[in-house]
Amino acid sequence: MQISPSILSADFANLQSELDAIKNADWAHVDVMDNHFVPNLTLGLPIVEALLKVSPIPLDCHLMIEDPDRWAPAYAEAGAQSVTFHVEAARDPRTLARALRSAGARAGMAIKPGTAWEPYEELLPELDMVLVMTVEPGFGGQSFMADQMPKVRAVREAVARHGGDVWVQVDGGVSATTIEQCAEAGADVFVAGSAVYGAESAAAAIDELRSLATQ
Ligand code: DX5
Ligand code: ZN
Repeated sequence: MQISPSILSADFANLQSELDAIKNADWAHVDVMDNHFVPNLTLGLPIVEALLKVSPIPLDCHLMIEDPDRWAPAYAEAGAQSVTFHVEAARDPRTLARALRSAGARAGMAIKPGTAWEPYEELLPELDMVLVMTVEPGFGGQSFMADQMPKVRAVREAVARHGGDVWVQVDGGVSATTIEQCAEAGADVFVAGSAVYGAESAAAAIDELRSLATQ
């Protein structure tokens, strides 16, 4: 069970200290948004490169961008330890996942709430992680979509059938009240933005989430 706090809810003027505040987490989740794939704009490669130099934990880059086939490999080449693209935006997800792996990153594929999982199951051998979105991508602080739990379950079952070390990540509205149902459905990597950075102690919130997921 791994916790990946989203720095989308951090203080963008103090990202180094905001990364230090979550150093007891497994990953730092970095939401890259291009104002095209989603109606919001955050940060891109130069800032990810800067974060990689100072982060005490590996970066889990979630690319909510158009044309990931063109742009995503550079994040892996820069040293991001996990790079996730959206399947809705990818032209050739198989080739893209292979490029991410050959650049040394774990390859992740994200699916939006309205996107079915089944057509993409055949890509599992190319993937290290499947991200099931539990909100519409674009913003932090939205309500958790419990209706995505059957999809989490279906991905977990597919992973069990195919074998291999493929992680199942959930992102959006994950908190102390929603994390247990995610774990029960088969998720093993949990992104939490507002539930971590909105807490009085980010470190304590991470520990609490991890223990709830592990029960
Ligand atoms: C939303 C992002 C999430 C976001 C989650 O598009 O992908 O990573 O930061 O924020 P919370 O945990 O507040 O829903
Ligand atoms: Zn995200």
